[in-house]
Formats: sequence, structure tokens, C-alpha cells
Amino acid sequence: MKPILTRRNFIQKAAQLTGSGYTAMTALNLIPASPAKALSLEGHGQGKRIIILGAGMAGLAAAYELGKLGYQCTVLEARERAGGRVWTVRRGTKEKELDGPEQTCQFDEGQYFNGGAMRIPHHHQSVIRYCRELGVPLENFNNTNEGAYYYCEGGKGELANKRIRQRELHNDMRGYTTELLAKAMDGQALDLPLTKEDRDKIIEYLIAEGGLNANKLYKGGSRRGYLTPPGAYEQSGKMADAPALLSLVQAGYADPYFYNVAEYTYEQQNTMLMISGGTDRLTDAFVKRIGKKIVYGAAVKEIRKGENGARVVYTDTKSGTEKELLGDFCICTIPLPVLSTIENDFSSNVQRAIDLIPYNNTCKIGLQFKRRFWEEDDSIFGGMSRTNLDITQIVYPCADYLTPKGILIGCYNYGSSAERVGNLSLGDREKLALEQGGKIHPQYRQEFEKAFSLAWQKIPYSLGGWALYSPEARQRYYPALLQPEGTIYFAGEHTSYLTAWIAGAFESALRTVESIHQRAQKQALN
Ligand code: PHE
Repeated sequence: MKPILTRRNFIQKAAQLTGSGYTAMTALNLIPASPAKALSLEGHGQGKRIIILGAGMAGLAAAYELGKLGYQCTVLEARERAGGRVWTVRRGTKEKELDGPEQTCQFDEGQYFNGGAMRIPHHHQSVIRYCRELGVPLENFNNTNEGAYYYCEGGKGELANKRIRQRELHNDMRGYTTELLAKAMDGQALDLPLTKEDRDKIIEYLIAEGGLNANKLYKGGSRRGYLTPPGAYEQSGKMADAPALLSLVQAGYADPYFYNVAEYTYEQQNTMLMISGGTDRLTDAFVKRIGKKIVYGAAVKEIRKGENGARVVYTDTKSGTEKELLGDFCICTIPLPVLSTIENDFSSNVQRAIDLIPYNNTCKIGLQFKRRFWEEDDSIFGGMSRTNLDITQIVYPCADYLTPKGILIGCYNYGSSAERVGNLSLGDREKLALEQGGKIHPQYRQEFEKAFSLAWQKIPYSLGGWALYSPEARQRYYPALLQPEGTIYFAGEHTSYLTAWIAGAFESALRTVESIHQRAQKQALN
């Protein structure tokens, strides 16, 4: 029997990519999209003490909102900086992975890449609202670029191991598949209850959609680009013949690796946005408002529920001394792989959730080049090239066009590719990024200057990219994180259906603030 695509397995399939069935569930109208509403809570916190663990996006937003309501917050942050996985790598940035030597970023002044969050879906209203409220400017993030490349290694035939422009593959595959459908419709092979008129309409649509000729055949055309583009006088433009469908298939371009991710997933559809000048500007905007509440270099060691409030023991990493903090409530935003190393007296359900919810690996390698050859030679302005090699993607900057130098994210990968790359030494990562990326851009060899690389699964105080829920983990372990442990609440992207997005951090923070405030207001009445 053929497998049937049910709502359930559609959601499960979609969940395999981000670990969240959110996309599929919103598509099926089962849950509403990320809400736009700001908090509007009545009452005053009366200076009740809130301990917030982690100055990432969830912790910062919680401190900001609770501050507005009159609570007294202390944010403990293990690092010497705020922002967590919202972080931009610039000249002088330092990082030391678990088993690695310290890296100091040597990029030129003004050059940067977003080591963590880099793009914002246009419907993530909670993020956009904070940008508006805090005066953080947004610009377009070109998530799609038909002029960027696909490169499949290891295939057969005339297209094997050759880079192709995304527009070529998109148009060719669309052309051939619509041709197949148009033929099937025409021959009445599809057992559909259609009138002749309906059928003609669909065929007309398929011809337009696929760029078919009057005989319903796909023969390429200008949409897929030119060998020589149109120009002045007699330069009429020379088109290439479309390769045969079989050539594309044999070269590996029918592999799901090369599906049209940006257009076909809800989160990555144009228009996407980014924060002008680097995502850390969002961190800075919060820090400007609540900076005094953050204690840096405070590595949490113990979290205790306590009778009348929470008790947190932390190490002051500068002096090595242990300190204790008491609060009426605590919000713990610490990523689960890190939390799993911290002593606590949580219930067994929560401990299981902390230990068993999987996280995704992810690496990013920033490469500084002497010249923006991708703009000058290849006409690529933003977007990504994609490949089945371990680097997975090359992300082009969509800011500061035409300036002399630039930084590519020469590797942005997940899962097992990220595990392999993360296990290499810094030197070998650089070599791999240059070697694999050089297959798409031969200019790499000439133009490369400096690299800075990150494997988030090895970065202290993160130990992973983002929570990657399997449907089973979501069902079994997730619910435990949504209940407070006494006066301790959990927040962060891992406590949302918007995992791997800033919006998940914000929305979980807002929900938690709301819950704490309601409880505190009730206590005040008693
Ligand atoms: N939000 C991250 C990004 O935009 C991680 C992610 C990757 C989420 C792919 C969904 C899909 O890169």
C-alpha cells in the first residue's frame, strides 16, 4: 500500500527539519501564527525580587518587562557579554570552545558576521515589535537569490560536479514537472472529476507556471538565464539549451538537499529581515535599558526551589568565589545541555526533560576576503549558495554592497555535517571551508584573508545550536518545562514551538512574565 500523507505525518515530516511542528501546524491552521500583541498587565511588582538566569534574548526581554512592572531583577550571566546566541563576531571577538584554543577575531575594523541569529521571518511580530520599541533598525535579508549557486558533488553525467545557478535548476525542474502534469492532464490520465473547461484552465496555468511552449513542452527559455545576456546594438542575448531532466537527476539535483527551502518553508519566505549592522545591536538595545541589572561572569552552580522562593548559587568566574542569591521567583533560560550540568532539586520529570531533549549541532565559519568577488564577478548580492558538501551553505552579505572587502559565512550547517566540522581543529575547519567553497568560487584561493569559526555544540554556556524536538520528545518531555518548579520558571526558545528563532525566546519570556505577575498579584491580595 502507498503511504498516505496524513495531517499527522505531514506535521511530523515538517518537524524533522527544525524540531518544531509549528510550521506545519500553522499551515494547517491548527495554531495561530506568532502573535503581535505586547504585554499589557495591570498592577505593580512591589519590588519583588526576580532572579533571571541567562542574559540571552529571553532573559533580557524578561528583565525589561518585569522592570517596567516594578519588579527588582538580577540577571546572572556566565559570559562577559549579553546576548547568548544573538551574537556578532567582529574584530577582537574572543571565543574558546570546550576543547579548543582561544580564537581572537582578526577581521578588519567594520567587518563582521552574525555568529548566531542572522535572519528574522517577516511574521515574527514579537521581534519586530521590540525592534520598533527599542529603536533598532531593520533591513531586508535576502534569503533567496536566484543568482546564487547550487553545487552537487558526486553525481553522474554532463552536469556532474558542476555548479549551476539556482534559477536554472528551479526553472528546469518546474518546467519538466509541469510538462509531465500537462501531458497527463491532456491525456486524461489523471482520474480527476474535471470538466474539459477545468482541464484547459489547469493546462493553461501549467504552461504559464512552467514556461512551456504551445505543445506543452519545456524547452528552457530566458527565465533560466543567458550564456550571453542581452545588451546594446546587435547583442540580442544568447540562451543556453536546458539540460535534459535526466542529466539533472543523475547529477544529483533532484536530491531533496536542493529543494527550494526558502520559498517553501513558512519561516524562510521572503521578505526576511535582519538587524542593521549586526544582530548584536538588538542585544545592545536591551543592555542599554537594563544593563545595571546584569551580573557578568556569574556561572550558575546550583538552583534550589526553596520554601518561599528560589536560591541560586553561582561562581564569580573572575575571583573564583561562590555567591548566593535569593529571589521570590526565578526565571531559568539556561539552554538544556548546560542546565543538565547544574545541580538542582527539580522534579524527575523536569530532570528527564533537561537531559533528554535533543539539541541541534551547528557551525558557522566567517571568511574575510580582499574583494567582493561574488558581487564583482558573479553578480551575487545576498542569499545563499547550497551544496551537499559539509559546508552546506555559503551565505553572502546583504549589506555594505560594493565596499572593498567582505565576509562570507563560508559554512553554515546542521546535524551530522556540523558534528564532523565541529570535530576538526580550527585550522582544518578553515581548510575545509576554503577547499569546499572553492569548488563553487575558484576565487577563494586568491582572495582569502582570515577566518573565524564556531561550533555551537562546543561553545561553553550554549553547548548546542537550538532545541531539536522529535515528535516524541515534544510529547513526552516538553510539557514538564511549561510548569514552574515551585517558584522557578523555564523560558527560552526551547520552551516554545518557535525553536531556533529569537521569537521563541521572546514569546516564552512574555508568557513567563505574565504567569509570574499573575501569581505575584494573587499573593499580594492574600
Ligand atoms: N533560525 C535559524 C536560521 O534561520 C535556524 C533554522 C534553520 C531554523 C533552518 C529553521 C530552519 O538559520
